[in-house]
Amino acid sequence: MAGRTQGSKCLLKVDYNNLTAQAVGSAGLAPEELNDLKASASEALNDVLSRHKKGDLPFMDLPLDEATARSCQRLADRSRRKCRDVVVLGIGGSALGTAAIYTAVKPLNYHRLPEENRHWPRLSVADNIDPEGFQAVLENMDLEKTCFNVISKSGATAETMSQFMIIFDLLRRKLGPEEIVNHLVVTTDPKNGVLRKIVKAHNLVSFEVPPGVGGRFSVLTAVGLVPLAMAGVNIKELLAGALSAREDGLKSFSSNIAALIAGLNWYMTTKKGRASLVLMPYADSLAKVADWFGQLWNESLGKARKLDGQPANSGQTAIKAVGATDQHSQLQLYMEGPSDKTVMFLGTEKFRKKQPIPDIFSEYPELAYLGGRNLGELLEFERKGTARALAENGRPNLTLTMPEIRARTIGYLIQTLELATVISGSLYGIDPLDQPGVELGKKFTYGLMGRPGFDDFLDRYNKGNSANRKFILP
Ligand code: PA5
Repeated sequence: MAGRTQGSKCLLKVDYNNLTAQAVGSAGLAPEELNDLKASASEALNDVLSRHKKGDLPFMDLPLDEATARSCQRLADRSRRKCRDVVVLGIGGSALGTAAIYTAVKPLNYHRLPEENRHWPRLSVADNIDPEGFQAVLENMDLEKTCFNVISKSGATAETMSQFMIIFDLLRRKLGPEEIVNHLVVTTDPKNGVLRKIVKAHNLVSFEVPPGVGGRFSVLTAVGLVPLAMAGVNIKELLAGALSAREDGLKSFSSNIAALIAGLNWYMTTKKGRASLVLMPYADSLAKVADWFGQLWNESLGKARKLDGQPANSGQTAIKAVGATDQHSQLQLYMEGPSDKTVMFLGTEKFRKKQPIPDIFSEYPELAYLGGRNLGELLEFERKGTARALAENGRPNLTLTMPEIRARTIGYLIQTLELATVISGSLYGIDPLDQPGVELGKKFTYGLMGRPGFDDFLDRYNKGNSANRKFILP
């Protein structure tokens, strides 16, 4: 099945031949199973579309929000003059989508180009709090020419807020309090949270995360659009691609790629025992798309309970692998280890660069076949060869193909996979928009850090740990 055509090109193609019983035997889908799957996925799609009509799923309409895109672009055009580096302070849904899109569409060597060849600031995403890692992000940056974008929907996440406090203090000490406003942009909830209070108290430039749009569905809001526009990503193109995916996402099952991806993976998980989904892009620029997808799929679908309160323990573990690199590390397991995975390849028909392989060593038959070809060609054949080899080993796989990797195709991919996630939620009967499971760990952290109101968790931590002392070595 192919998604929205652009001129003669389509923006995303799904080939699921290698998921059929004909290709992989009993691990695959027999014709009657395919019919069952289609009926269920079609029902789930209708459920999602009716919730969207009622206004329940605002992420689906983000590509229509031209006003936000315009104000993000205005900020980017202004900041471009004074700014050489943009640093995102955020985590999870406030970071991964931005990193994925930036890495996908900007040249991979952008950060290493000499300054005179960089026409837009470099973007770095500081999404962890390892002290060494955080300091490394800031190294080699001229503070006077750096803009920070702190992003937190809740305005409370400990990791992001601690980074924010470090940077706020650094700017105040090094550049002076009156300069903070020129180096800091905040993206947070329009009304709630301490970050919004600080915005008001210090008159900071700010953007809003629309209510009802959760972190991992927010990359097409100001969460992603501010830093991406500041780094020179064509957000108009990105949103145009997402808009095409939105339109296709509203279509019935037979021409709805998102519903197909959801249905296939749900069926493979729940009826065919494929508990994991390996997303395997064959392009370095798409590696972070797999990180973004991992969060989207895992955090959205891994749920203890169904909407009706019944036990669920639902989900399919998304795993990142990058071709061809991981053919030489993970693939052996996927070929011959536990038969519990589906592999979803992500490929492109065209690479941005050509790298010919010189026509030398023709006297050695072991190398002669490589000479005169190019690396992109080799990488594509590696993907196709691996898909075939998996199929021959009875390992189901499917392939998503983009015509090329640029803002429009990435916008299409992002919006399609977000919709596929929500349709999957409906298939599992769970709420894909919440994440109750990540809260408990946060509460223990608060207890350990001495946050008022969380003493109980410190006690529970100490009690729980003292019972296990004897199992620590040395
Ligand atoms: O997808 C999500 O909701 C989470 O990953 C959040 O984005 C993450 O926890 C960060 O939250 P916040 O933006 O509130 O700081």
